[in-house]
Amino acid sequence: MESIRVRPYTSADYPFICELDAPLFSGMGGPVLFRHIEELFPSLFFVAENDAGNIIGYILGGIHLDDAATGKLIRIGVVPNYQRRECGTKLTAALFAEMKRRDVTAVHLTVAETNTAAITFYKKLGFVQKERIPEYFYPATPRLVLWKTL
Ligand SMILES: CC(C)(COP(=O)(O)OP(=O)(O)OC[C@H]1O[C@@H](n2cnc3c(N)ncnc32)[C@H](O)[C@@H]1OP(=O)(O)O)[C@@H](O)C(=O)NCCC(=O)NCCS
Repeated sequence: MESIRVRPYTSADYPFICELDAPLFSGMGGPVLFRHIEELFPSLFFVAENDAGNIIGYILGGIHLDDAATGKLIRIGVVPNYQRRECGTKLTAALFAEMKRRDVTAVHLTVAETNTAAITFYKKLGFVQKERIPEYFYPATPRLVLWKTL
């Protein structure tokens, strides 16, 4: 069985992540987002690799500047042919371990209410829905807000 290894992101990963992200997130701002996160939260950015060293998934998070005990899972993606093989679970474990090391006690995220796969994934990880924001993204796109205690 092929193994999946999670390691910290480096700038050399940037073009590969952008390529993987575009179809997963319909081109929703990945290239801009990744540059900001690598500058602001470099230690909260991880990638997953297969045995051949190809990147198959990524996760990025942040910590609130004015509330250092609260983290955010900003984006996670796993390429379709590696989904349901615990890659997402391993990526979240790496992010949450680093957040805990930095004394983060709770993490939140937003997800589209139509993304049933991601919602099931997050609920299995222990996230609970706290809110629905009707116009979170422009134009008028609702998001569910989920929280988890670390
Ligand atoms: C959401 C996502 C990151 C999950 O990654 P993954 O590597 O497939 O997740 P895992 O294999 O670790 O799944 C763990 C559990 O989550 C649940 N789950 C994951 N994908 C699921 C799906 N498509 N349908 C139902 N449950 C799912 C299952 O309970 C699964 O455990 P099981 O396989 O033993 O049943 C992945 O589907 C993805 O990249 N989706 C596209 C991008 C996206 O929507 N990201 C989130 C945006 S908010």
